[in-house]
Amino acid sequence: MQKIGIVTSGGDAPGMNAAIRALVRLSVWNNIEVIGFLRGWEGVLQNNFIPLNARAVSGILHLGGTILKTSRCSEFKTRDGLEKAAKNLEKNSLDGLVVIGGEGSIRGSYELSKFTDVKIVALPASIDNDVYGTDETIGFDTAVNTALTEINKIRDTAISHERTFIIEVMGRKRGFLAVEIGLTAGAEVILVPEVEYNEDAVIETIKKNARIGKSSSIIIIAEGVGKTTSLAEAIEKNVGVEVRISVLGYVQRGGSPTARSRLLASTFAEKAIELLLDGKGGRVVGIQKGEVTSISLEESCSNVKPLNIELLKLAEKLAI
Ligand code: F6P
Repeated sequence: MQKIGIVTSGGDAPGMNAAIRALVRLSVWNNIEVIGFLRGWEGVLQNNFIPLNARAVSGILHLGGTILKTSRCSEFKTRDGLEKAAKNLEKNSLDGLVVIGGEGSIRGSYELSKFTDVKIVALPASIDNDVYGTDETIGFDTAVNTALTEINKIRDTAISHERTFIIEVMGRKRGFLAVEIGLTAGAEVILVPEVEYNEDAVIETIKKNARIGKSSSIIIIAEGVGKTTSLAEAIEKNVGVEVRISVLGYVQRGGSPTARSRLLASTFAEKAIELLLDGKGGRVVGIQKGEVTSISLEESCSNVKPLNIELLKLAEKLAI
């Protein structure tokens, strides 16, 4: 293992820079040359890269985003794109490629692995936490804490105006962010795509809260549920309380990574370099029950990560 490439792909996540920094420094420690492709898979297709050494990754540990930039690249999803990308890996005489990204980037890594012998290892980095094979992705903890800070502020005005707030959080099609944010924010209702939407049940809950003296409520809804506006209208019409909507949006994607996100980034990078030094590719690194491990790209792409419904039930009990 003499030369590797690094690419950050898909939605950016706080901690990606911590991962880049750890990968580069561990590579330098093992006398491995490193290049960083710019703008995700687009950079691999265009063979657009920069050399990375220990000094190139100084001062980035605490920065959100990715110094390599990222993109969502549709050309890469074509056979021609995959073949072109494979050729560029070999043109640079790469022995390994580390892909830092979410569920879509891991799927892309798996497809690319079918076109090249270059050892590919993926680090799961996404605020969505929807990657099969890891209990937690790089960036998830930071996004949850960012959301909590914003929700604490919203709760002030909700209490002052005795309003119900519907707060939409990210997660594309999954509810991992909504569940953890809702539980830790003390939300009265948490709505996720994985559980059938029941508007009447939400209305009954808000009515009951009003009866027991809760003059304001917080509803956390995952963007994938797609009912934010219609739910607000239904509650105002049927319960008679003032409802406001707050879409947290892209604040969840930025900010300085928490210690937890930095720890995952650094330990995942260590596992990735260990795998590559052992000549192993086609893997995605992850943490399972506290242990940093890896599973095959194929296994990760062939399974859907289950949502922890028990946390939803706990949140409901704690919100009485
Ligand atoms: O995958 C991370 C994520 O933030 C999702 O939660 C969200 O739905 C999506 O990216 C937004 O995509 P984009 O940044 O391309 O608008």
